[in-house]
Amino acid sequence: MAATAMEIQEFSLLDDQECDARIEAAKAALGDRVVILGHHYQRDEVFKHAHFSGDSLKLSREAASCDAEYIVFCGVHFMAEVADILSRRDQVAILPDMAAGCSMADMANLRNVERAWRELNEVLGDADAAVTPVTYINSAADLKAFCGRHGGIVCTSTNARQVLEWSFAQREKVLFFPDQHLGRNTGFGMDISLDEMVVWDFDQPMGGLSRDEILNARMILWKGFCSVHQMFRPQHIENWKQDHPDGIVISHPENAFEVCQKSDFVGSTEYILNTVRQAEPGSKWLVGTELNLVNRLHHEMKPKNVQVQFMSPTVCMCSTMFRTDPQHLAWVLENLVDGKVVNQIKVPDDEADQARKALDLMLQVSN
Ligand code: 13P
Ligand code: SF4
Repeated sequence: MAATAMEIQEFSLLDDQECDARIEAAKAALGDRVVILGHHYQRDEVFKHAHFSGDSLKLSREAASCDAEYIVFCGVHFMAEVADILSRRDQVAILPDMAAGCSMADMANLRNVERAWRELNEVLGDADAAVTPVTYINSAADLKAFCGRHGGIVCTSTNARQVLEWSFAQREKVLFFPDQHLGRNTGFGMDISLDEMVVWDFDQPMGGLSRDEILNARMILWKGFCSVHQMFRPQHIENWKQDHPDGIVISHPENAFEVCQKSDFVGSTEYILNTVRQAEPGSKWLVGTELNLVNRLHHEMKPKNVQVQFMSPTVCMCSTMFRTDPQHLAWVLENLVDGKVVNQIKVPDDEADQARKALDLMLQVSN
């Protein structure tokens, strides 16, 4: 009889130090059969075990090109789905804690997006001819598949502009989901006026919009947002600038329009890290993104005499990224050593094929 998988309960009693030793031992036993990917928002106790770290785009490319049998994704659910879709079908993507989702991704679902598409069809005649659907990578695989089926594409915070340029070259309008802020911030940077961008309220018939509003819009922005980034306010920047008039502000594009407008630089998590790492000694930075990244950057830059300050006066971190702890990482790795896969993320083949179309397009466009 096959041995049963070790239970997470056994691991939840271990302290972090014991987990460290067991994670390292399991990594050594598995060798190049496993690759651990760590998103920049992971807590230090997990992040330090990653073979590769990065933003969503960098980690997607890593998953697409890696040869390991097992891809353990220390991030959130949609990231592990992308790793599964872009890797070979015989490779196995694993999410250490299945409860690590993304609240923004959950703000759009297939039923609501298909209803929106039907309603857009009613107004525009043929939505497929008039609208390019663009999903932020922070979305479920079935929405990426929807984009694949309707000539659409995926974007990340790194390549949103290139993806939108491609999208407008295909059709006159874009339906952008689920993050209204990334859509608005990127569109505005491409000289699309705020008047030409409307918000689609998925709880309302016709998105709460009139026919004319839909007909006149260039971008239709889904009413989704990130609960972490919505904590950063323009007032935080104004207050900090009073004490640091020469300070530099850098933000993630999931922030509200007003925050991004007051920022000197806007970009992905990888961009934020790279930009601050090149900062002049003596410079002071206010950073509008998740706390674990900012704390690590603060400690890294302090000896270089670069001051890094978190934008919000209150602690706000991504609670779902935080779900992944050393206990879950040790649990999935030791099971792999034992020849058992736990917490596999497997996108059904037909859905993966459609989603891959939209993801491959993104990778081509953002080369
Ligand atoms: P990045 O791709 O910039 O890392 O962003 C992912 C994310 O979820 C930010 O909230
Ligand atoms: Fe999702 Fe926001 Fe967490 Fe990023 S920070 S994973 S968008 S909830």
